[in-house]
Amino acid sequence: MRILVTGGTGYIGSHTVIELLNNGYEVTILDNLSNSKELVVDRIEEIAGKRPDFVKGDIRSKEDLLKVFKGQKIDCVINFAGLKAVGESIKMPLEYYDNNIYGAINLLEVMRECECFNFIFSSSATVYGDPASVPVDETFPVGGTTNPYGTTKLFIEQILQDLYKADNRFNIAILRYFNPIGAHPSGLIGEDPNGIPNNLAPYITQVMVGKRDHLNIFGNDYDTKDGTCIRDYIHVCDLARGHVCAIKKLLENPGVVIYNLGTGKGSSVLDILHAFEAAYGKPIPYEFAPRRAGDITANYTKVEKAEREIGFKAQYDIMDMARDQWNWQKKNPNGYSK
Ligand code: NAD
Ligand code: UD1
Repeated sequence: MRILVTGGTGYIGSHTVIELLNNGYEVTILDNLSNSKELVVDRIEEIAGKRPDFVKGDIRSKEDLLKVFKGQKIDCVINFAGLKAVGESIKMPLEYYDNNIYGAINLLEVMRECECFNFIFSSSATVYGDPASVPVDETFPVGGTTNPYGTTKLFIEQILQDLYKADNRFNIAILRYFNPIGAHPSGLIGEDPNGIPNNLAPYITQVMVGKRDHLNIFGNDYDTKDGTCIRDYIHVCDLARGHVCAIKKLLENPGVVIYNLGTGKGSSVLDILHAFEAAYGKPIPYEFAPRRAGDITANYTKVEKAEREIGFKAQYDIMDMARDQWNWQKKNPNGYSK
């Protein structure tokens, strides 16, 4: 069975490709390398002992997609290809809507033309906006996104629902990721953000390697146990495994299915900092700073649906996540750049 993984040289995509190869799937990666490097394909081969096919291409190009679909039978597509920086999306909404939404539509059109009807979509917990209560489950209302990035996820989810209503040959898994962090335990692949990291874990590891002076903790006056925000951090290798679970589900012809992928445990910013300090063996400098606009107090998930319907259960805790992300950063202080 061959899986097309768009965005497969990116952070979550590369970990998922390893999981797919380890489970006997054949993999073709299509990535335009706008936020990743081709070197990742070598690293994947080093870890998995198998090399996925790699095509440099864009999901917005029918020509690029047809090159893949006409050359081999694709049984399922996992669409990781997308832009994901919240702040950038506020400044460049058209680019985000074009890349993420037009890209997804174009990909689905080519799939229909080539009679491939199994689709897995990387959505986000951001579609829940500021939830009325936590933990959230898949029946919670979606909407109230505060930035174009989040809105692309919301719109694509709606497009997928509408597509299935019109054409029930499609089987679609919408996976709403909570906060993926960590790296493959080998330290060969991991997250490699451009410039100053926006997200917590890569910022912390850049402080640990001396690239940044200290962590700014955005807000210590939230209504939580220690005043800092609560999130559901999930190890990227667990998240990767969730995709293999979803593929198996699609083979049962379920129509559209939606799963939250998280651990079910909420951790504060200080909990995460302390997990990294344990991996580091010494304190990590930090300061409390004002709240960041758009942040919500708490978001974590119920895990029952994913566990019951696709047998997905996260195995790693935040200590494992911190250890593995630190291992990656230590071995690759400049990410994939030498
Ligand atoms: P990433 O930037 O590391 O990976 C995305 C990959 O897609 C990159 O390799 C990039 O080069 C490629 N890409 C972008 N636009 C493309 C296009 N038009 N055609 C072909 N390739 C293209 O990001 P990631 O963290 O691995 O995220 C993967 C997916 O998961 C994204 O859709 C993201 O929105 C979603 N997601 C991520 C998080 C997170 O915290 N990382 C949370 C929720 C959802
Ligand atoms: C962010 C995005 C979300 C996106 C997700 C994955 C916002 C508002 N939300 O989620 O839409 O799906 O990333 O890309 O940007 N923090 C600090 N200091 C830092 C960085 C973060 O204190 O330098 C805190 C934040 O205030 C937050 C927590 O750490 O409480 C996690 O932040 P982050 O990693 O950016 O993830 P989210 O905000 O949950």
